[in-house]
Amino acid sequence: MSVTFPHGFLWGTATAAYQVEGAVREGGRTPSIWDTFSHTPGKVLGGDTGDTAVDHFHRRAEDVALMADLGVGAYRFSVSWPRVQPTGRGPAVQRGLDFYRALVDDLLEHGIQPALTLYHWDLPQELESAGGWPERETAHRFADYAQLVAEALGDRVEMWSTLNEPWCSAFLGYASGVHAPGRTDPLAALRAAHHLNLGHGLAVQALRGALPRRARIGISLNPSVVRARTESPGDLDACRRIDALANRIFSGPLLRGAYPDDLRADTASLTDWGFVKDGDLSAIGRRLDWLGLNYYAPAVVSASDGSPAHGNDGHASAEYSPWPAADSVSFHQPPGERTEMGWSVDPSGLYDLLMQYTREAPGLPLMITENGAAYDDEPAADGTVHDPDRIRYLHGHLTAVHRAISDGADVRGYFLWSLLDNFEWSYGYSKRFGAVYVDYATRSRTPKTSAHWYGRLARTGVLPEATGAVPAPE
Ligand code: FCB
Repeated sequence: MSVTFPHGFLWGTATAAYQVEGAVREGGRTPSIWDTFSHTPGKVLGGDTGDTAVDHFHRRAEDVALMADLGVGAYRFSVSWPRVQPTGRGPAVQRGLDFYRALVDDLLEHGIQPALTLYHWDLPQELESAGGWPERETAHRFADYAQLVAEALGDRVEMWSTLNEPWCSAFLGYASGVHAPGRTDPLAALRAAHHLNLGHGLAVQALRGALPRRARIGISLNPSVVRARTESPGDLDACRRIDALANRIFSGPLLRGAYPDDLRADTASLTDWGFVKDGDLSAIGRRLDWLGLNYYAPAVVSASDGSPAHGNDGHASAEYSPWPAADSVSFHQPPGERTEMGWSVDPSGLYDLLMQYTREAPGLPLMITENGAAYDDEPAADGTVHDPDRIRYLHGHLTAVHRAISDGADVRGYFLWSLLDNFEWSYGYSKRFGAVYVDYATRSRTPKTSAHWYGRLARTGVLPEATGAVPAPE
């Protein structure tokens, strides 16, 4: 039976500035927290940095042509804050904006819709040195930056996203410290979460003022599909606690105008949440045009069995937990197939996520702004790169998306993570998420079999077969 997606469904691929651009010292760009972090010994596997990354900054035209050849209809990229507003304050730098203008023009010429993310984790280092996201001022700086980018690109970009995965910025950046800026302070992480939310709200206001009416504004979250290991009260409470810290800390103020009471109670030993000021919640709750969901794998939790509360971030060896006040929780690896990240392959999680947000945010169009998998791809002797595992992963997850749409979820698009193999944060270049293989010695690009498979889907809207596909949820 053929699986056909709705007419007009957006088929995209995604990247992020620091993961692909390189050219970190060109055109007046100043360091971001990821430049500092990746140059700190011991923080990134193999000492890898984004200094050159996959050189997207110089290969922009080639990469856009590649997308066009494949037949992809949209490109989700992020703007590097320190490239367009070095140091995070003051006027925009024209040379920085020129790069994104040229990128957008190339995309539009090829009929590819640009989807712009303002913040994918590369805070200007100067703002971190002034306190970073735990400080309220950073939210105001972010709104000013949003305004500058909107003024420069608002005439040609319709799809705007404020933040990518604020959970990672707050909790991997400031609590477990496995991401930049590498702090390990649970209170700072909670403050950061609020100021990211506030920055989002203030940025939405700035964007609404600066963009034409046709602009569509959203945010990309990475909700944890968290499941209790058993139905015991202890395990269910562990699930509730992680759901609050992973999900409702964002969806509460964004969609319901408040932080959840249980979250405040769980974290009372750390803070009275006095950093939430009058007016913040109405700013954060401003109307959205779409909600982006990033999904990779579900999490299974129980009451603590003594193992540390680390979780589903792929950093099981981290010394500090990303989950403030959750020492009472343990995380478990579900049995079954895993990707190269060690993340379990479970399309039912994506189905559940879409149905959950269909209930929580009725009337709000959903976008899957990231989904994909890392595998140990290697070119064959003839230079081709076959990645049947990735095709099976995508097939299983897209079948789940289709089923959610049939069951009433208003899903408007899907962005495969990632267009290209790239700098996978603290894993450096050791994990390949790309549909396109990058030879890191020459930076040459070779579309993997999955890229052609995905291109066929993007052109026809009909899910191609995948032999031995991951079973879709019942
Ligand atoms: C997400 C990030 C993205 C990429 C994927 C694998 O959390 O948003 O940049 O690293 O994971």
